Amino acid sequence: MSNEELGLQFLPMQDTDIDVIIKNERRAYSHPWTEGIFRDCLASGNECWMLMVAQRIVGHAILSMGAGESHLLNICVNPEFQGQGFGEQLLVHIVERAIVNRCSCVFLEVRASNLTAYKLYERQGFNEIGIRKNYYPGHMGGEDALVLVKELILE
Ligand SMILES: CC(C)(COP(=O)(O)OP(=O)(O)OC[C@H]1O[C@@H](n2cnc3c(N)ncnc32)[C@H](O)[C@@H]1OP(=O)(O)O)[C@@H](O)C(=O)NCCC(=O)NCCS
Repeated sequence: MSNEELGLQFLPMQDTDIDVIIKNERRAYSHPWTEGIFRDCLASGNECWMLMVAQRIVGHAILSMGAGESHLLNICVNPEFQGQGFGEQLLVHIVERAIVNRCSCVFLEVRASNLTAYKLYERQGFNEIGIRKNYYPGHMGGEDALVLVKELILE
């Protein structure tokens, strides 16, 4: 089915969306962001986007920008909708936002154990450039973050 047939669209996140976003976030992450973090992200003027399917919020992604670079702070798809390419569409969209805003690259961190996300980033042209030891909280102590970057070609 085409994106149009699926009723798929990207919308900028609003304060009023945070309740649903938080529900998706809690379902998807072992250590979800709080409502306050989402409010701060919106107030700071970050690129905060939602992926809608048939008018339902299916995923969200947040990109911060500064000094000509960008950082993917969060990307999340409601588990009910995972494994159907929505994460990839969200990632492509957020990279396009970085390009529109003239960023030369997108950085991100990913848990060393998060193979699904890692493979998705690799498919989309991200390369591993480093590791942050014990970056994430975990049930059994800290977990390392892998640092990835995608260089962007600006015309
Ligand atoms: C990471 C995340 C955003 C990916 O979202 P997603 O919608 O599941 O991603 P996609 O569907 O694009 O790709 C995931 C897998 O589904 C497969 N897939 C995509 N479309 C498919 C389809 N139509 N049929 C079958 N499989 C499909 C992809 O090949 C991929 O497989 P792989 O894991 O073997 O590489 C999602 O898993 C998530 O929200 N995880 C929790 C939060 C998180 O970890 N965020 C990243 C933090 S760094």
